[in-house]
Amino acid sequence: MVVVLIGYMASGKSTLGKKLAKKLNFNFIDLDDFIEREEKLSVSEIFKIKGEIYFRKQETIYLNQILQTKTNTILSVGGGTPCFGNNMERILNTNNVMSVYLKASLNKLVKKLFKKKSKRPLIAHIETEEALTEFIGKHLFERVQFYNQSTIQITTDNKTKKQIIKEITTKLF
Ligand code: S3P
Repeated sequence: MVVVLIGYMASGKSTLGKKLAKKLNFNFIDLDDFIEREEKLSVSEIFKIKGEIYFRKQETIYLNQILQTKTNTILSVGGGTPCFGNNMERILNTNNVMSVYLKASLNKLVKKLFKKKSKRPLIAHIETEEALTEFIGKHLFERVQFYNQSTIQITTDNKTKKQIIKEITTKLF
């Protein structure tokens, strides 16, 4: 089985993905790290040098490659992955693939992202917390229609990592 962790930037996909993989004795893949290794450039560099359209094309290629070839794997995708091309359709329609939406509130996302936006090309230029709140509010509104298609949905605010992992495993098996 491949378990795809879905959610907005900073929703905890990678941190929780690693812990979940350890608990289940699964492999862990972070799609952004996978793309960086394959392309030999950081995500920020790909956006800057080759542009977002190129990034989205490669993201789709590597996502499909992983969904088709891996088993017993937790895959954390980027915040935008489910929202481009037919990626969400693929995630939903590939055999033995489950999707989990890690749902965090706007407030929590803004607080986390304001501190670590420099590595994220879509928000790195936003200077104030107010402007970031406005951007993420609109962006989430567009994206939740994709995230909400996930087979499992978990709200994460005010829960410990341990509680979230337990909730995911209970819902998965
Ligand atoms: C993106 C999220 C990033 C990365 C890229 C674009 C997005 O991943 O794929 O910067 O469109 O939301 P994280 O969600 O892991 O930050």
